[in-house]
Amino acid sequence: MRIAIAGGTGTLGRYVAEDLRTRGHEVRVLSRSSREYRVDLRTGEGLEAALVGCDAVVDASNARKKAAEVLVEGSRRLLAAERAAGVGHHVCVSIVGCDRMPMGYYRVKVAQERVVEAGPVPWSVVRATQFHELVATVFTLGGRWRTLPVPRAVLQTIAAVEAARAVADVAEGPALRGRIDVAGPVATGVRELARTWRSVTGRRALLVPVPMPGRLGRTLRAGAATEPSPDVRGTTSFAEWLAAGQ
Ligand SMILES: NC(=O)c1ccc[n+]([C@@H]2O[C@H](COP(=O)([O-])OP(=O)(O)OC[C@H]3O[C@@H](n4cnc5c(N)ncnc54)[C@H](OP(=O)(O)O)[C@@H]3O)[C@@H](O)[C@H]2O)c1
Repeated sequence: MRIAIAGGTGTLGRYVAEDLRTRGHEVRVLSRSSREYRVDLRTGEGLEAALVGCDAVVDASNARKKAAEVLVEGSRRLLAAERAAGVGHHVCVSIVGCDRMPMGYYRVKVAQERVVEAGPVPWSVVRATQFHELVATVFTLGGRWRTLPVPRAVLQTIAAVEAARAVADVAEGPALRGRIDVAGPVATGVRELARTWRSVTGRRALLVPVPMPGRLGRTLRAGAATEPSPDVRGTTSFAEWLAAGQ
């Protein structure tokens, strides 16, 4: 198959691209910094040429600032271009519990899913939990001053490479017109994740509990970002992933 990965240079997207190539597919990496297919989802630049002859598209793009422009409006642009190119399957990568979390970025993810579900191309949604990579980055940045703010929240982090495998499995198959949930091996409090990070990496940082007031705090403490019975469960724990020096 010929498969395009929007956001194929990102944390998840590069693993999806690698995995699908290993399986023998022809993979096109689409992003603003891609050497092969320079595409900007904010404007639609480069999309038409990038999608010629593609059987499936994985959307692994992401943006923290002005996220809706890339994830929602970008999805509309991407889907319209896919339709014009005759693409038969659009795979949207989303986040476990995004519809339970009262926060701007998660609302954008829900809006992105809606656009995909109502769009002109047969679709699948793969929701994943937070990546080990994200949590490790936050700890590394947050721990620079040897104090690490730790909210009382529960996460079920997964190695991006394992989430990517699940995304690649879906991309190879027929459109689900539905969703699967992919989650890490175990739900863990952020404090415990921070302790693990400290002991495996040898970094020193004082863990400082920070209150998370309001509905967002309550939902995160209650495990809204976790999935006890995912369709796919990763096997590599945060400790194992850190120890492997990823
Ligand atoms: N990170 C997590 O913990 C996590 C957990 C669950 C689900 N997810 C979901 O997984 C997906 C990928 O997340 P990620 O963390 O792997 O993202 P990421 O590392 O931030 O990568 C984002 C990708 O999007 C591309 N991109 C950004 N703006 C673009 C634009 N205007 N046009 C075209 N490409 C653009 C980037 O490349 P350029 O900068 O070169 O354009 C890059 O390849 C997202 O849907 C996210 O919601 C993430």
